[in-house]
Amino acid sequence: MQNEIFNFSAGPALIPKSVIEKIHLGLDDFHRGMSIVEVSHRSHAFKEFAQYSESSLRNLLSVSDEYSILFLQGGATNQFALIPMNFSRNGVLDYLVTGAWSKKASDYASKIANVNIVSDSSYNNFTNVAESKTWNISNDPDYFFYCANETVHGLEIHDPIVSNSPVICDMSSTIASRPIDIDKYDLIFAGAQKNLGIAGLTIIIVKNKLLSDSNKQLLPMFDYSAHAEEASMLNTSPVFSWYVSGLVFDWITEQGGVEKMAKLNKEKSDLLYNYIDRSSFYSNPVSKPYRSWMNIPFILARHDLEDKFIQSAEEVGLFNLKGHRTVGGMRASVYNAMPIEGIKKLIAFMDEFAKLHE
Ligand SMILES: Cc1ncc(COP(=O)(O)O)c(C=O)c1O
Repeated sequence: MQNEIFNFSAGPALIPKSVIEKIHLGLDDFHRGMSIVEVSHRSHAFKEFAQYSESSLRNLLSVSDEYSILFLQGGATNQFALIPMNFSRNGVLDYLVTGAWSKKASDYASKIANVNIVSDSSYNNFTNVAESKTWNISNDPDYFFYCANETVHGLEIHDPIVSNSPVICDMSSTIASRPIDIDKYDLIFAGAQKNLGIAGLTIIIVKNKLLSDSNKQLLPMFDYSAHAEEASMLNTSPVFSWYVSGLVFDWITEQGGVEKMAKLNKEKSDLLYNYIDRSSFYSNPVSKPYRSWMNIPFILARHDLEDKFIQSAEEVGLFNLKGHRTVGGMRASVYNAMPIEGIKKLIAFMDEFAKLHE
């Protein structure tokens, strides 16, 4: 029997096997013998699919009618630009910097608006978040921005942050990994390529009230309200990526929804963190309350063995364990589609490797 492989990539990341099979079917024949990559976003068949996928996501994440859901191109990085363009109103914007992604978002916003950094975890290499009572919060910011899961550092803020101003959250690497209290947020965005599908699609869940107060001077492509008015079909939609996400929404629903995902994700990450904490050969630098369920970085006691670790892992079918290029070390990304067997196999490999080299 061929050895099963596991892909620990941070994104684009693994897709459930049953979804890949359905993608094959759609590639062959989505509608009347035409492949999904040949149909128009304005065709009746795709519009029907688009509506169905939106209602699946609404059910999955319990999103009320007070919110619009947008299916756009541009990635999460594009939202770093569009968010200040749409919602800054000559006031100040509060950004909580807890890692590379929220830092990048604040850098983008500061090009066009007055940004206040509420707190910056760079002093502890993004391994902790200062207590909220020490944060430097503005009087009446236009919004408060944070990133729920910093993919590079494996730092996750597990509970929603409450603010008197609109709360905007980058959930690219945590969306659908657990239930979300949507009402606590005014805008949530996520690139699809981690928990919800493939690159090319960005999902934005935005409160209609926030849209009604947004900047109305923007060209339509940069204006969230214009995208909402056209049901995300202002221009050619990312048909194929949207299709894959629709299949992933169905898969999560079939698995038992985000509650079930949360249970499995907690179980998976506990298993790996417990092993790392017991080991004297591996360590994880992130403060325990902020450890990510999705991205688990770890370092080896002997840095000279990193290349050998990666090579040996690949030989047994464990791929993409190298840490982000800016931080080094290792990182196991264990999104919804990673089965617990992948974690068990990784731990068995790590244990064997440590015993050989301790
Ligand atoms: C938390 C987070 N935000 C933003 C991004 C940027 O996403 P994109 O490359 O889709 O623009 C990433 C990418 O990995 C991410 O993990």
